[in-house]
Amino acid sequence: MTGGAMGAVGAGGPPHPAAAAFDGMAERYDRLFTHSVIGRAQREAVRSLAAAVFALGDHVLELNCGTGEDALFLSRLGIAVTACDASAGMIREAEGRRRLEAPQAAIEFRVLATENLAELRAPFMFDGVLSNFAGLNCVTDLAPVARQLSLCVRPGAPILLCVFTRVCLWEILWFLSQGQLRKAFRRFPGRSTVAFGEVALTVRYPTVRRLRRLFSPAFALRSITGVGVAVPPSYLEPWARRHPKVLRSLLRLDRIVRHWPGFRVLGDHVLLRLEPARP
Ligand SMILES: C[S@@+](CC[C@H](N)C(=O)[O-])C[C@H]1O[C@@H](n2cnc3c(N)ncnc32)[C@H](O)[C@@H]1O
Repeated sequence: MTGGAMGAVGAGGPPHPAAAAFDGMAERYDRLFTHSVIGRAQREAVRSLAAAVFALGDHVLELNCGTGEDALFLSRLGIAVTACDASAGMIREAEGRRRLEAPQAAIEFRVLATENLAELRAPFMFDGVLSNFAGLNCVTDLAPVARQLSLCVRPGAPILLCVFTRVCLWEILWFLSQGQLRKAFRRFPGRSTVAFGEVALTVRYPTVRRLRRLFSPAFALRSITGVGVAVPPSYLEPWARRHPKVLRSLLRLDRIVRHWPGFRVLGDHVLLRLEPARP
């Protein structure tokens, strides 16, 4: 399997905004998020559903795969993965991890922006799709992505999309307690500008209703799971490390409230399970 280097940068054009943003943090990403206590706690929710819906022998398309944490996880379950990301830096890290952790893993890492999925030209239909931790929040228009996905998945394929929510209860309460009103409600307008060093990236916060509409009629929404409802957002890592027992209790609570209507859309992320709609 090879790591391609096409698609994220147009020939001679400017770099993809996400690539410019994430290249600069690729080397630190695993330390800052993947191996953080909060990152691990939030990922557990996505993994338990992924392990339940994808099966041994499946071939899954992963969007915005970052440093390959989920691709490596899926490959350990006997699932082949085509894993794409706009950031060449992230894909370099992912390739490095694969070489060290699972050299035989059936994973193809590719530098490919989600907006350029048509370039995949896969000669096969994927058995499922995974997009974890807000890569889709960096995409301006998700409707063409939905159309493109509908062309490359088999009937019944589970599509798992984990995105930032519009309303995060933890974020509101935390920043209000710090007297930072603007940060507390920064998701409410539906978009915000996030600084990655010198690079400013627009992050969008579509509601579940909006996402459902964007992915229909090609896909039907099958389930909604909260991710990071009781567990706080990752910028509270220093706090979480000081309070390991509290975090463990919050994770136990999370496993319950992540399924509660009302609560499940108030976390840091929400995980949608969609399926191609039957004709
Ligand atoms: C927060 S990281 C999540 C990475 C990984 N999915 C994980 O679970 O750790 C977001 C990732 O989305 C990627 N990304 C953002 N916008 C993208 C786009 N338009 N196309 C492809 N990848 C994108 C970034 O490069 C980054 O690797």
